[in-house]
Amino acid sequence: MCGVFGIVYSKETDKLGDSLIKGSRKLVYRGYDSAGFASFKEDGSTMLRKGPGMLEDIIKSKNISEFSGKRGIVQLRWATFGEPNEENSQPHYDSDKDIIGAHNGNIVNTEQLSEQFKAEGMTIRGTNDGEMVVHAYEKFYNQYHDMKKSMMKAQTLLKGDYAFVCGNTELDKLMAVKMGSSLYMGIGDDFILCSSDLGSILQFTRNIVFLKDGDLVIYDDHEYHIYDIHTGKDITRPPEECNIKIEEANLVGYDHYMIKEIHEQPKRVQELLNLLANSQQLVKNFIETLNQADHVYLVASGTSYHASIVGAYYLNHLAEIHAVPVLAGYFNEYYNISPTAKDVILCVSQSGETKDVINVINPILHNTSAKIISMVNVTGSSIAQKSELVLNVSAGLETSVPATKSYTNQLFTFLYVAALAGKMKNLDKANEIFTQLEKIPGLIQETIDTVKEECEDIAALLVKRDSDLYCLGYGIQYGTALEGALKIKEVYYKHCEGMYSSEFKHGPLSIVDKNYPILFPASPADDHMVISHINEIMVRKGNVIVISPQYKGYAKAASRVVVVPDSDHYFVPFSTVVVLQLIAYYASILAGLNPDFPRNISKTLTVD
Ligand code: BG6
Repeated sequence: MCGVFGIVYSKETDKLGDSLIKGSRKLVYRGYDSAGFASFKEDGSTMLRKGPGMLEDIIKSKNISEFSGKRGIVQLRWATFGEPNEENSQPHYDSDKDIIGAHNGNIVNTEQLSEQFKAEGMTIRGTNDGEMVVHAYEKFYNQYHDMKKSMMKAQTLLKGDYAFVCGNTELDKLMAVKMGSSLYMGIGDDFILCSSDLGSILQFTRNIVFLKDGDLVIYDDHEYHIYDIHTGKDITRPPEECNIKIEEANLVGYDHYMIKEIHEQPKRVQELLNLLANSQQLVKNFIETLNQADHVYLVASGTSYHASIVGAYYLNHLAEIHAVPVLAGYFNEYYNISPTAKDVILCVSQSGETKDVINVINPILHNTSAKIISMVNVTGSSIAQKSELVLNVSAGLETSVPATKSYTNQLFTFLYVAALAGKMKNLDKANEIFTQLEKIPGLIQETIDTVKEECEDIAALLVKRDSDLYCLGYGIQYGTALEGALKIKEVYYKHCEGMYSSEFKHGPLSIVDKNYPILFPASPADDHMVISHINEIMVRKGNVIVISPQYKGYAKAASRVVVVPDSDHYFVPFSTVVVLQLIAYYASILAGLNPDFPRNISKTLTVD
């Protein structure tokens, strides 16, 4: 997935380059395989500089700050169609280089379009799908010389979701299209701009137009016109004052955002506790919605899915709410019986933009009356906009691609909702947990303060062994195990498989040879199973590293135990995940890798 940004100023300016750079830096989380910058000058000339690699390197090597002009487009790319090289970087020229455009999205009929456009004599330079959007527009612009009509026709050739920004040398405007991928517009005093990311606009103006799918916008520096891309009809969408606070990313003395954000967790959970305590009506509306449902599906991807697994444990055990965690990507396959009005889809997403989750929401919004509610970390995001109720997990800007603080705040939001829901049902354990929630920030802090050396030592052991490994979890710790395994894969690039520990003996146990490493986050309350699962490995000379509060049964059974501070069973996921986050981080550093921007992935994926 990618990010696009397009701005039109009232007159030629030599600050265009700096504005494009400023906008691009807020798009890095959306992809950093390549970046490209384009400018249009009033004399009809253009500049287009782009290439593979990290944004800052391209800004320097291509001297982007020297860009001047009235109009500019920037695009950051996470590769789907076409390997990350110069030709496949965006933006793209059309055949005659008098149109420049860039997209974020997935044009699934790229191959066919490429063949068609080649046959029609167009100059096809790469294999990127964004280039096909430009050529589709070129095809009809050469016929009609009308932006709106040409884009309406071009859209009929394109299969897939996207957002697109483009300009012609002969027209003093830009055109933008929102078709399934996020796109916002900002209205300034002497400029108008569009971007995939709300935060990138809020740096320039708080006057925001929240575009909708099917919007085709044509804009210059002082006016914009929105049309329905299918019918051509005018659409009125006045700008709204947007007061969302946008944090600036800064390392404040840490070596990486990942370690900074791990250390932020106690503070962020404390802030969230205070926020939820002051949002009782919203929380109770959330709880009422869950209580009234026939089925509650927790729909998420990646780390958010792992939080949903622990969240489902909390809701089931503390509030008797039968919630089922479902990977967003297969919801429509496994739950293709249309959800009814009595069903609730709780979407969990840090970015609020994950396409797999939006693919679940859109058919439901169009075809059923099931309730869509969500937990997000980005206010105003696409998933939040599509939800009847939204709880913001308030982890603050999470810059590092591997999620850490957003995960623990997702966990805490689930625990708070489950404990309050159970308390309202007069369930004793829930009532007890609800009164102890304030202990969690301190528990996380104490864990961070006490396990650092152990985590560095285990990371060194893993790097020395240089092999794959497993991360097992039982009961409440299944989500923790999956999350720990993902962290290790994401930042250390070694295969670590997360698995439910009772499943390990059904085949994967064959992988165990002498000293084979197995991480095992565990709660003492689950010893009835966990000790058996540890023994099954230890008798085969595996190396089981348990992560748990002090418990002699585990100390006796395992190779070693990373002891986390004592806590209630329901709080163990918070302390043990911190250990796994730190092990992954130190392994990444020892391996000479960049934990914040791992290769091949991005902070959120708005493609299928
Ligand atoms: C992936 C990210 O692209 O998306 C993961 O690399 C993340 O870190 C996953 O967990 C889901 O993203 P979100 O924003 O829906 O929580």
